[in-house]
Amino acid sequence: MKVKFNSEVRDYRTVWMEGSVVYMIDQPKLPHRFETYGSKDYRETVAAIKNMVVRGAPAIGATAAFGVAQAALEFKGKDFRDFLRHMEKAEKTIKNTRPTAYDLFYAVKKMMDEMRIAGSVDEAQSILRKASQKYADESAGRCRLIGLNGEPLIKDSARVLTHCNAGALGCVDHGTALAPIRAAEYDGKNPFVFIDETRPRCQGSRLTAWELVQEDIKHCIIVDNAAGYLMRKGEIDLVIVGADRINSNGDVVNKIGTYEKAVLARENSIPFYVAAPESTFDFHCKTVDDVEIEERDEDEVLYMWGLDPSNELGRVRIAPKESGARNPAFDITPTEYVSKIITEEGVYKPEEISKRFG
Ligand code: MRU
Repeated sequence: MKVKFNSEVRDYRTVWMEGSVVYMIDQPKLPHRFETYGSKDYRETVAAIKNMVVRGAPAIGATAAFGVAQAALEFKGKDFRDFLRHMEKAEKTIKNTRPTAYDLFYAVKKMMDEMRIAGSVDEAQSILRKASQKYADESAGRCRLIGLNGEPLIKDSARVLTHCNAGALGCVDHGTALAPIRAAEYDGKNPFVFIDETRPRCQGSRLTAWELVQEDIKHCIIVDNAAGYLMRKGEIDLVIVGADRINSNGDVVNKIGTYEKAVLARENSIPFYVAAPESTFDFHCKTVDDVEIEERDEDEVLYMWGLDPSNELGRVRIAPKESGARNPAFDITPTEYVSKIITEEGVYKPEEISKRFG
């Protein structure tokens, strides 16, 4: 993704590995400061996923893949059985970070499967280093294709609503929902993006807006409950969101508030598109009741956060001290509200997905 530094534009991925350090764009610092964070071991990588230094389903997947490689590289002995025990423990710890995005489980399984052919510690380390890099490269490639496949859905000067951050920051690069918008901009179609602020973590107003500023894509931020008003006034032509998990029926689990937007889109005859790569499709999951919806700390709702949500000083309480909160981080949009799913292979009706990828 492009990142502007005064007169210079540099190209960044959201997450990458150098030696045994996993680097990531430090997302809680955005939009105020652009900094990278380097995690030196897999436990620091686990903490970065939990604390949302890195977030978004494909980015979590790639970070987890690097985390598995890091765990392997950290092992100092030569005993292969001890190594396998160490890796099983790391696998559990990495999978125990955030429960909803399927990409996490997909990536960790892929890494553990790659390792099965190894007969020694050295061999396993070398396999995982290469496999994790390949995973990240392929993940970025899938998002690039989502952009190309979704771009024809965006007409000249289309006004697009998006929710949360399903951009390059939520992926290794390019984004899911933002990839077709980027492609439309590069094609000279001049899209305009309405960005839901996405309380409580404000991934829309902090991250999506920041990404669109880097690309000079026209946009404005709206509060989460403004979309219905704008849709009814005819100001929104289409909705594109990402996904954290899509089951075999085409039901979509995504950031809390997605379901409401889908219902409103249907009510106002506006197409509702979901952009996601294969790593987000969970065909073991027949009913979304099987999916664990992450419930995060109530403080994310009870406080407004400043520069860094992990910094106590940066927050201001906005609710009575006697009040508590519920903070489900995701919701479920039933398949009947989804017009099409944009994938790296093409654009499909939700019911076609399991036939194409299953
Ligand atoms: O809690 P987050 O910020 O990890 O949630 C991210 C989303 O819900 C995105 O919409 C999803 O992962 C789509 S792809 C980046």
